[in-house]
Amino acid sequence: MPVCPNKYVSSLVAYVPGEQPRGSGFIKLNTNENPYPPSPSVTKALSEIGKDGMHLNKYPDPWANELRKKYAEIINFSDTSIIVGNGSDEILRMIFEAFATEGDTLVVADPTYVLYETLASMFGCKTVRYPLSTEDFTLPEAFYGAEGKILILPNPNPPYGICYGLETLERIAAAKPERLVVFDEAYIDFTENPRGALDLALRYDNVMVTRTFSKGWSLAGGRIGFACMNPALFESMAKVKDSYNVNKMSQVAASAALDSAEAQRENNGRIVALRSEIAEQLRKRGFTMPPSNGNFVFARGNNAPELYRQLKEHKVLVRWFDTPLLRDGLRITIGTTEEMRVFLEKLDLCLASM
Ligand SMILES: Cc1ncc(COP(=O)(O)O)c(C=O)c1O
Repeated sequence: MPVCPNKYVSSLVAYVPGEQPRGSGFIKLNTNENPYPPSPSVTKALSEIGKDGMHLNKYPDPWANELRKKYAEIINFSDTSIIVGNGSDEILRMIFEAFATEGDTLVVADPTYVLYETLASMFGCKTVRYPLSTEDFTLPEAFYGAEGKILILPNPNPPYGICYGLETLERIAAAKPERLVVFDEAYIDFTENPRGALDLALRYDNVMVTRTFSKGWSLAGGRIGFACMNPALFESMAKVKDSYNVNKMSQVAASAALDSAEAQRENNGRIVALRSEIAEQLRKRGFTMPPSNGNFVFARGNNAPELYRQLKEHKVLVRWFDTPLLRDGLRITIGTTEEMRVFLEKLDLCLASM
């Protein structure tokens, strides 16, 4: 008899991350990574590993104190109410471990980041999805006061990249004080309001803000995420955190990345400017797009699955989601200027052959 998995795991549809290409020469526009490498300060700091006091035979700091203090100063938040995670995906899992009980309801927008629903299923929770307006992508009225234990809204919300204003976020936070509201700010560094909802996390006991270094800080490979919250939420999160959840190399890399914040902002500015140009070029080719505030656009039209397939043959990877709401579009990460030039060139070849 095979060993029987947990009853929720046996029926779980596992989350499928974006494809990692085999072989070289691919232009990778499918997982919303930052196309620019981290600053030289990161490489330099990593080269110190193995030198005085930086050996890997000792465990890392369980709380990543140096890193969270530095980050707290930059975002003007209390460092003792920040948890550092092995990417924000780990933080999201901790949220379910700390706050979800079997039978609880998760409230999400539709479409949104798929992992939330996967996590809910793993913990025996059901998910209620609230479809965005197909006209202007606003959240439906019922979303604000939706019944549920946890509500998660990424802001900007992939794959469209819609960013909701602080008034909207505050309405959600205030509607039900007993409901945990998580604003996932993975893409906040590409918006006009990089402070995001941090002040709501300071003012509302039920609000948590999550961040990642995978997008706006060029450290997807370093796996660094943050959760910012009030002390009461922190206490529960701290109880479920693995002792040494963030390895020493990632702590060192992320801390060094913070020393080059200005250079990183310049890179992100380039991505934002290119996002507008690419959107314009795609519109000229007949695509339609919601207004994105992330480092990606979601382009509808022109037989998306076939385009996805043909672009891949040309070694350009974009993301195609085979779900009813999304299968007529492609999510395209904004790369470097040169990568996007090649993308458009290959796109035109594909369009001409269809
Ligand atoms: C909305 C959102 N949240 C979280 C993540 C995961 O980020 P991390 O790399 O920090 O785990 C992603 C990754 O694409 C995302 O799109």
